[in-house]
Amino acid sequence: MMTSADTNSVHQKPRHVAIKVLSNILLKKGSLSTQLARHQSSVAIEHAPLLKELCFGVCHQYPKLNSIGLHLLAHPFEEKDTDLYALLLLGFYQLKYMNTPDHAAINESVEACRYLDKEWATKLINAVLRRYQREESEIIDQLIKMPSVEFNHPKWLVKRFKKHWSEQFEKTIISGNSRPPMCIRVNEQQVSRETYIEKLQEEGIDCFEGPYSPTSLYLKKAVGVNQLPNFLDGEVSVQDEAAQLSAHILSPKNGDKILDACAAPGGKTGHLLEMSPFIELTAVELEPWRLEKIESNLERLSYQADLICADASDLSAWWDNNQFDKILLDVPCSATGVIRRNPDIKINRKPADIEELLVIQKAILNNVWKTLKPNGYMLYATCSLLPEENEQQIADFLETQKDAHEIPLNSLNETLKIEWGIEVSHGRQLFPNENGHDGFYYCLLKKKA
Ligand SMILES: C[S@@+](CC[C@H](N)C(=O)[O-])C[C@H]1O[C@@H](n2cnc3c(N)ncnc32)[C@H](O)[C@@H]1O
Repeated sequence: MMTSADTNSVHQKPRHVAIKVLSNILLKKGSLSTQLARHQSSVAIEHAPLLKELCFGVCHQYPKLNSIGLHLLAHPFEEKDTDLYALLLLGFYQLKYMNTPDHAAINESVEACRYLDKEWATKLINAVLRRYQREESEIIDQLIKMPSVEFNHPKWLVKRFKKHWSEQFEKTIISGNSRPPMCIRVNEQQVSRETYIEKLQEEGIDCFEGPYSPTSLYLKKAVGVNQLPNFLDGEVSVQDEAAQLSAHILSPKNGDKILDACAAPGGKTGHLLEMSPFIELTAVELEPWRLEKIESNLERLSYQADLICADASDLSAWWDNNQFDKILLDVPCSATGVIRRNPDIKINRKPADIEELLVIQKAILNNVWKTLKPNGYMLYATCSLLPEENEQQIADFLETQKDAHEIPLNSLNETLKIEWGIEVSHGRQLFPNENGHDGFYYCLLKKKA
């Protein structure tokens, strides 16, 4: 329910909008990015960064804050009061991680109960937040043995990371809890990396070169895209360094007929065209609203591709029987390598999702393989850290597809130095680096003649 202060203005308070966004995430009504995009215009433009900080912050700290919330509440809130739980988590977040004075954080939380027309909850919210304020370190001491508190990741994921990646466990957890750096890709059709560094310096933006992708630059401090020189003209795009490796591995050459099979939002579609503008590129994407994102990305870069909205595994829906020279298969996955960019994964990703994703990945892999020419190449990619989605998925595939074999990741691009990640039974696994690239997986396959 809206207060008079809200109805007087078209804009609402960032805290009120954050409650809405977080409640919807908790109720599985959408992801952090889609919910933020939908509700961002509800706050004044100058409050957009605060709204983002509140929502990202709570998702980032959710495993820990949720354990504290459940510990301090005698009974969890009912589903219809998820907004109150979101409000409580926001209160914890402000008390612990923001500069808001404690009394303001508590008073505003209590006021927000009234905004939600839940006066009955004011005493409860006040009491729980005040107890947290007084006893935070004792509470943490009591809960620290819980993986959700010690590592600030869901228990099931902590277990899997420990099992599969004991050596990389600490680094993975630290990166998963960090804020990601802003990495951009320079469009070398328009400007060299060296020249773009100069352009950034002229604008007072400090950056450094990514060590692995020859087109990558990390900004020492994130900026809005409109502050990036000639962003609207397509000189640069925002893209993680590990993601940039896809196009460098596949190394498109003019004339190649290429398929980008799970393409939205089109980061890699654009990069393939930047590397070789005269390829014949088909991009397939299941979700119509996400296909529009590819369209607008390509429009900014002034490139074209054949865009098809379809399930890539249903060949009868989209394929004209003309085989491709190269295929990029960046399949839907658990996104466990990019938790820091999508921290709502800490809230809603569950082990059952992985089982579903494995089935989808397998169907896409097996069917799309038929669209590859003999002697053609397919790059299988995920932003997952779970071997079942990566090396095991490929092992199963190679078991059944006798015309497929794995080749080194620099087979198509000898200048590419493979110094990233670690070699696994099939392909390479990259782990997220605190101030560097995201977690990714790559395996390059060739079809026998
Ligand atoms: C990891 S994202 C791709 C990211 C993209 N390659 C990029 O670099 O911007 C996976 C995409 O696959 C899409 N997708 C999921 N299932 C699909 C299917 N059966 N066929 C085609 N696309 C699918 C998702 O909607 C999502 O946009």
